Amino acid sequence: MSNTPAANTEAASIKPHTGKLGVMIPGMGAVATTLIAGVEAIRRGLAKPIGSLTQMGTIRLGKRTDNNSPLIKDFAGLCPLEDLVFTGWDIFGGNLYDAAKTAQVLDRDQLEEIRPFLESIEPMPAVFDQHYVKRLTGQKIKVGKNKCDLANQIRNDIAEFKTKTDRQIMIWCGSTEIYLEQTAVHQTLEAFEKGLVDNDPGISPSMMYAWAALKEGIPFANGAPNLTVDIPALQELSKKMNAPICGKDFKTGQTFIKTVLAPAFKTRMLGVAGWYSTNILGNRDGEVLDDPESFKTKEVSKLGVLEHIFQPELHPDLYKDLYHKVRINYYPPRGDNKEGWDNIDIFGWLGYPMQIKVDFLCRDSILAAPLALDLVLFMDLAARSEKLKGIGIQEWLSFYFKDPDTAPGVYPEHDLFIQSMKLKNTLRHIMGQDLITHLGLDYYGD
Ligand SMILES: NC(=O)c1ccc[n+]([C@@H]2O[C@H](COP(=O)([O-])OP(=O)(O)OC[C@H]3O[C@@H](n4cnc5c(N)ncnc54)[C@H](O)[C@@H]3O)[C@@H](O)[C@H]2O)c1
Repeated sequence: MSNTPAANTEAASIKPHTGKLGVMIPGMGAVATTLIAGVEAIRRGLAKPIGSLTQMGTIRLGKRTDNNSPLIKDFAGLCPLEDLVFTGWDIFGGNLYDAAKTAQVLDRDQLEEIRPFLESIEPMPAVFDQHYVKRLTGQKIKVGKNKCDLANQIRNDIAEFKTKTDRQIMIWCGSTEIYLEQTAVHQTLEAFEKGLVDNDPGISPSMMYAWAALKEGIPFANGAPNLTVDIPALQELSKKMNAPICGKDFKTGQTFIKTVLAPAFKTRMLGVAGWYSTNILGNRDGEVLDDPESFKTKEVSKLGVLEHIFQPELHPDLYKDLYHKVRINYYPPRGDNKEGWDNIDIFGWLGYPMQIKVDFLCRDSILAAPLALDLVLFMDLAARSEKLKGIGIQEWLSFYFKDPDTAPGVYPEHDLFIQSMKLKNTLRHIMGQDLITHLGLDYYGD
């Protein structure tokens, strides 16, 4: 690392990570249990944090000839895994060992090794309303006189957890809710808080958790495609409370590959006539998405990607007539082991057509868990950083999302490698290091 005065001043403006970081998770299903079980297995030396940029990634500082590429976690002073403490909410009873068994992501033997730890965590009763997730029926849910009362019960849970931990962050790993569009209740914090009292139907449970977290000054990350913090009211609250927000929808399987391939075609000026994507999956997420209203939320999140990468308004000859279709089919035999197919019809020189087929036999939660971990640690960093804590949306974390949140009027970057550069340059920036532009001319001067 370069120890210039600027670097030392910037690094000093970030609060240290001393103490316990409390991770609060609404929705303790497949992703959450795979995250928590994984962190514990890694802490005990039973497994490696594969797929996690914060744990395995490095960041180059200075010139290529400097040979200076520290681990990201050391460079940015991220909270160590030993200091993470987990809690959360779910509509199902039982502890996390039961939940992990139901999710059927991890092997039984692996679960047995950390069974007492998982048994020690029991989700708290949830704020849930079947109107927003049609395929699930709440078993352990809070009761209250209106949405305000329920959201305040979440605040009480948070306040209790604050007594056991030094800093907290909330990450939504709950189900995909029905498709919601912005209405008047979402436009200002005042309207939103009145809407909580009036039981406004525009306020979903995920928004109530987010409101409670932000009110308590706690950052909120959104792993689902739900509208949640994509509303002016909660963005206002985020800035007011210096509590960062980011979202939405973990970019794990098909969209991850899509945002690698599409920039490759675009950068070579190859045309794309059609992109047909279909998936089969059999986990509970798949069951929830089998409801057309929840599917619509996911579909919108997945569809925007190509439009933004290809910019058909700038390249009409190549992308104006692109036909893009996304399907998700619930198919129980596959469980969490999703299969995603893509058929891509491209065309090259003089318009000659070609095809590419992708068949990704992935594991949904194995891909999602390291992203959730990175988001927890980076959101904690954002909350400790003078430069980041008051800006609301953390666009530098777009890397993790299918449908990245951005400032109003700014289009999102979907290209995975632009997102990666944005993330690393943000880290360099807050640590007072030189940004890397990849210009490289200085290697060839006098
Ligand atoms: N690769 C991935 O797994 C992936 C990728 C992108 C996004 N996601 C999204 O992440 C979320 C979690 O995925 P999953 O596979 O763990 O699903 P899951 O169904 O296994 O877990 C979700 C849990 O949320 C709970 N829940 C629903 N509403 C709740 C509420 N109001 N309060 C508390 N708990 C609630 C459910 O009971 C369930 O246990 C989904 O929205 C999914 O679309 C997952």
